[in-house]
Amino acid sequence: MKHLFLIAVLLLMGTACNAQTQNLPKPNMQRQTLSVMESYNQRKSVREYSAKELSDQDLSDLLWAAQGQNRPDGHLTAPTAMNRQEIRLYVFTAKNVALYDPKAHTLTQVASGDHRDIVASGQAFAKAAPVVLLMVADLDKFGSNNQQSQAMAAVDTGIVCENINLFCSAAGLCTVPRATMDSKAISTLLSLNANQIPLINNPVGYPK
Ligand SMILES: Cc1cc2nc3c(=O)[nH]c(=O)nc-3n(C[C@H](O)[C@H](O)[C@H](O)COP(=O)(O)O)c2cc1C
Repeated sequence: MKHLFLIAVLLLMGTACNAQTQNLPKPNMQRQTLSVMESYNQRKSVREYSAKELSDQDLSDLLWAAQGQNRPDGHLTAPTAMNRQEIRLYVFTAKNVALYDPKAHTLTQVASGDHRDIVASGQAFAKAAPVVLLMVADLDKFGSNNQQSQAMAAVDTGIVCENINLFCSAAGLCTVPRATMDSKAISTLLSLNANQIPLINNPVGYPK
């Protein structure tokens, strides 16, 4: 009887944990978008967004384009130095903050509630975007936080950011890369250590 109770508790705990993880729809490889050349031609920083929530499919395609797994061996759409895959991609919405898992193509909640204001910081337009993507470089993945690791992490972050910029341009979404953010508040909220550095963010939304 005691064992049955324990199993029931463990099952309930498992369900509770799973409730925090959202399976995203499969990325749509047949999606109608602009061509690569048209996407470059259209790319620009946009600082006004419709309040309309992003559809699950648009969010799925956006995250996959940013740094989803694109090969069975675990490699990603975004290359990283020595394939360290040190960029964490967080999704801030009105509902919560979630971490993207490129391998499982899932979002796992890391904080509940609306925290877009700490990413927007001094720029109010950014918290009006339905989704704000935040890139955090985890230097621990390099085993060192020396200058070379910092440079590689900055380059890798820029690549993920540009994937976001070009996907948005191709898919008719609006975004702007932003270095502005309240890094201290973000580090506290996400329990980041000194080697996990918020580097850039992209508010994303439909055109206003
Ligand atoms: C590394 C980086 C940081 C940026 N930080 C901000 C920012 O904090 N706030 C902002 O409104 N735009 C920011 N921008 C956007 C630039 O202002 C914008 O890219 C530039 O004015 C050129 O305009 P375009 O993107 O339309 O070509 C940033 C861009 C980059 C590449």
